[in-house]
Amino acid sequence: MEFPGIQYIKGILHFSDVPLNEVVNNYKTPLYVYSEDIILKRIESYKRGIQNYPVQLCYSVKANSNLSIIKIMLKEGLGADIVSGGELFRCIKANMPANKIVFSGVGKTEEEIEYALKEDIMLFSVESISELKKINEIAHSLQKIAPVSIRVNPDIDPKTHPYISTGLKENKFGISSNLFENVVKLALDLKNVELLGFGYHIGSQIVDISSKLEAAEKSKFFIETFKKYKTLKFLDIGGGLGIRYKNENPPEPEEFVRSIISILPWNELKDTTILLEPGRSIIGPAGIFLTKILYIKENYHKLFYIVDGAMNDLIRPSLYQAYHEILPLIESTDFNRNVDIVGPVCETGDFFARDRQLPQLKENDYFAILTTGAYGFVMSSQYNSRPRPAEVLIDRNKKIKLIRKRETYEDLIYKEILI
Ligand code: LLP
Repeated sequence: MEFPGIQYIKGILHFSDVPLNEVVNNYKTPLYVYSEDIILKRIESYKRGIQNYPVQLCYSVKANSNLSIIKIMLKEGLGADIVSGGELFRCIKANMPANKIVFSGVGKTEEEIEYALKEDIMLFSVESISELKKINEIAHSLQKIAPVSIRVNPDIDPKTHPYISTGLKENKFGISSNLFENVVKLALDLKNVELLGFGYHIGSQIVDISSKLEAAEKSKFFIETFKKYKTLKFLDIGGGLGIRYKNENPPEPEEFVRSIISILPWNELKDTTILLEPGRSIIGPAGIFLTKILYIKENYHKLFYIVDGAMNDLIRPSLYQAYHEILPLIESTDFNRNVDIVGPVCETGDFFARDRQLPQLKENDYFAILTTGAYGFVMSSQYNSRPRPAEVLIDRNKKIKLIRKRETYEDLIYKEILI
């Protein structure tokens, strides 16, 4: 199976043309490695699909919020989709123009709303009537007009993991379709909000995009309703395009965007910018996670490779039973051992793979866990008081740059107060 930028050259695993044995020698493990080349290729694919249509990409910062990653996105002209004050802070630190930032999320606090208003962000994606009123109130007290769009819950099954489905009626996200028109009217009545559009996001890791097309189809109804009252400046169609972790076959971004474009009613969208919020499909394939075998043990009839990375560094396998391809840094052809790859955390749920066919390896050998650029580091924690791993970027000139230092023990207790 092919993964972008991944190949063995003379028996050594390379990522984006860089031999990974050198990377582990210089930066140690556990370690996240990203490739700027792959990020740029994924963005280019989106841009080819967009052609000259009025579509603005807003990178979904939650997928990977490292400042240097955000900076690549903004240099490529992308805006940002954020879900917290912390993500707003990161965007501002990276110099992302505030007028390209959309703020989504069901639970924005007063402080976050105030912060975003003061920074003059492009749009609040509003998820409830109470939130709409709250934004109006805060904008009033700051003598501002808040730009808002309504997030609808279109009740569509994205056919993905239940934890990352967001557009079904039982999910907490968005406003139900039957309330849409009333919420439009309410927003128009409120003095300190300006209603600019609506949007939806139905889920993540969507491999079969028929649900995305169905949502675009369904949006025609909302477009009509909205336009009875107001010019539609923004239609936010969310993110969610899936990627290959194992043998999935999602469309390339270009193909995906072209399909969506072919469905949207452009006659009705003369004044409208379409917002797209990709996260995983840009950064997911552009990252790998490197880890070293500490110990090998055979318990009863089971073989365990115990590695120095753990669920605190990369939680997707434990949390979603997610599959990530695993390759040894030194090439081997006999994938003939059935092993569990587990970390040092004191939980049985701490594994990267179970019953995986891998070669016979030795202690101190290394692995690359693929497709970990999205929802990898950002979901890491210090559980078991494990300092978080470092992150490096292979830049477009093939130079390796440290973009986050490995945490230290001091970092673990930095905010603690010993009384
Ligand atoms: N826009 C909104 C409003 C979202 O909630 C999300 C993701 C995105 C855009 C970006 O979706 P993407 O293009 O990355 O699929 N931790 C999970 C994924 C959670 C996704 C949450 N929302 C995982 O590791 O699979």
